[in-house]
Amino acid sequence: MIDKVIQISKEAGEIIREGFGTNFSVEYKSNLSDFVTEIDKKSEETIINFIRKAYPAHSVLAEESGGHEYSSEYLWVIDPLDGTSNFAHGLPIFAVSIGVQKNNETICGVVYDIMRDEIYSSEKGSGSYRNGQKLSVSSNDDLRKSMLVTGFPYDISENPDFAIERFAAFLKASRAVRRLGSAAIDMCYVASGVFDGFWEVHLHPWDICAGKLLVEEAGGIVTNFAGEKIDIFSKQILAANGKIHRKMIELLRI
Ligand code: IPD
Ligand code: CA
Ligand code: CA
Repeated sequence: MIDKVIQISKEAGEIIREGFGTNFSVEYKSNLSDFVTEIDKKSEETIINFIRKAYPAHSVLAEESGGHEYSSEYLWVIDPLDGTSNFAHGLPIFAVSIGVQKNNETICGVVYDIMRDEIYSSEKGSGSYRNGQKLSVSSNDDLRKSMLVTGFPYDISENPDFAIERFAAFLKASRAVRRLGSAAIDMCYVASGVFDGFWEVHLHPWDICAGKLLVEEAGGIVTNFAGEKIDIFSKQILAANGKIHRKMIELLRI
């Protein structure tokens, strides 16, 4: 199955790469920062058509078209373009993110970093890979020497779940905090040891399904801010190497 997930991620990525920098149309969702382009939709359509042919019985949960049939034990969780704001502004940091669950457990995860042509892939129990090379989280245990990454939800002006205070606390406590604009890529960089930790509030299942497996299979820990196990519907996510994880929880306590 992983080969099929990689294949369709690349096909969708090709559509996005071709659409980058062109004159695509845009529709607004909840506010002026929250929008979707026609390329997001084309990518999603291509992925769903592929699943319909290859696995007609499987259920799908996709960002732009929602849930399609929930009766199968298999569920494909799809972000057809993670990093839409970057894409629309010409910043080449965006990805396709696809996770496949069986009985509510993620068994496959693929993130395709389109402009770097990097496939991050993972199967439950078999490790995480970038273009076939095995990945491992960082081994840094000093928060003061850590490079962290986060993101902000589209309703950040309402400061949900003390997102701004928590961002300020990590800025002071770490070496650097980055904000790339693609949660899927943020988690790939935790899985590959570039970032020591990632946290964010109010993400959606399609943002984190593949990334969570990638971090865990690379030896990292993924929980909520209290250190508890999460599923893909969690409103808080903390993904970090096992050494920094506890220290990040202490700082997330507000
Ligand atoms: C967004 C990105 C971003 C995160 C936002 C997400 P989208 O996804 O992952 O990094 O901070 O909260 O909604 O809308 O570009 O698919
Ligand atoms: Ca997303
Ligand atoms: Ca998206």
